[in-house]
Amino acid sequence: MNFETLIFEAKNHIGTITINRPDKLNALNLKAKSELASLLERIKSDPDVEVVIMTGAGEKAFVAGTDIKELTMLNGDTGKDFAVKGQSVFNLIENLGKPVIAAVNGYALGGGCELALACHLRVAAEHAKFGQPEVNLGVIPGYGGTQRLARLVGKGRALEMILTGDQIDAQEAFRIGLVNKVVPAAELRSASEALARKILSKGQIAIRLALKAVNMTHETNLTDGLELEASLFGLCCGSEDFKEGTAAFLEKRKPSFKNK
Ligand code: COA
Repeated sequence: MNFETLIFEAKNHIGTITINRPDKLNALNLKAKSELASLLERIKSDPDVEVVIMTGAGEKAFVAGTDIKELTMLNGDTGKDFAVKGQSVFNLIENLGKPVIAAVNGYALGGGCELALACHLRVAAEHAKFGQPEVNLGVIPGYGGTQRLARLVGKGRALEMILTGDQIDAQEAFRIGLVNKVVPAAELRSASEALARKILSKGQIAIRLALKAVNMTHETNLTDGLELEASLFGLCCGSEDFKEGTAAFLEKRKPSFKNK
C-alpha cells in the first residue's frame, strides 16, 4: 500500500504509522484522514500487526491540527459532516481491537491532540506541546476532543485547555494524566517500542479483551460494565493462554503464549 501522506512500517508485530506532511507540521488534510482510515481497516484484519505506534514525521510536530486551509472551506451546512467524518477515523483507532500508542514527537494541537487522545496510550518527547487551540479560530474541537479530553483529565482541566486554547508542555501533560510517560526526544522511538514489546509479551487474547472492557468505561453504567467485565474474564478463562499463563506461574517459568 503506497500513501501520499503516511508511512507505514511493520516489524516484529509492531506497526508504525507516521503522519508524513512535515512541511505542514503534519496537519491532517482530507487525504491524510482518508489514507489513515484505509490503513487502519487493513491493520485491523492483519494478524501480523498486534500493536500500533502512531507518530509524526520530523522532530517538530506530532500533528499540528486539522489542515486549517481546508477548514476555511466549511460553512454551516458542511461543518457537521466534516466533524463526523473526522470522528469516524479516530473512532477506528479507539476501536481497533489492538493497542495503539501515540509517540508524541512535538506539537499535538487541535486534531493532533485529539489524535493522541484517540490512541490508548501516550508517550511524549520532552519538547512535546499539547493544546486545543480551536477557539482561536472561532470553532470548537470536532474530532472527539470535548469528549475524550474531559474523560481523560477531568472536566475542569479539559475546560481550561479548550476555553483558553493555551498549550501545555509535556511535563504538565504528564501531571494531569494526559500522557503516560515523558522521555527525552532521542528516546521516544525506543521507549514507545519498549512499551509495545512489553504488551506483545502478554497473551494477546487478554490484551484485546482488557482493551474492550476498559474502552467501555464511559459507554456504560457500573452494573453493565461489571457484567461485561465478568463475561470477558470468562472468555479469557476458556483460552489456552490462560492455562499457559497460570501453569507457567506455578512452574516458576516464563509463559509462552500462543494467542489462542
Ligand atoms: N493547518 C495547515 N497548515 C499548518 C497547520 C495547520 N493546522 N499548522 C501549521 N501549518 C503550516 C503553516 O501554515 C506553515 O506552512 P507554510 O510554510 O506553507 O507557511 C508550516 O506548517 C509551518 O508552520 P509555522 O506556523 O510556520 O511554524 P511555527 O513554528 O511558526 O508555529 C505552530 C508552529 C504549531 C505554533 C503553528 O504552526 C500553529 O499555531 N499551527 C496551527 C495550530 C492550530 O491551530 N491547530 C488547530 C487547528 S483546528
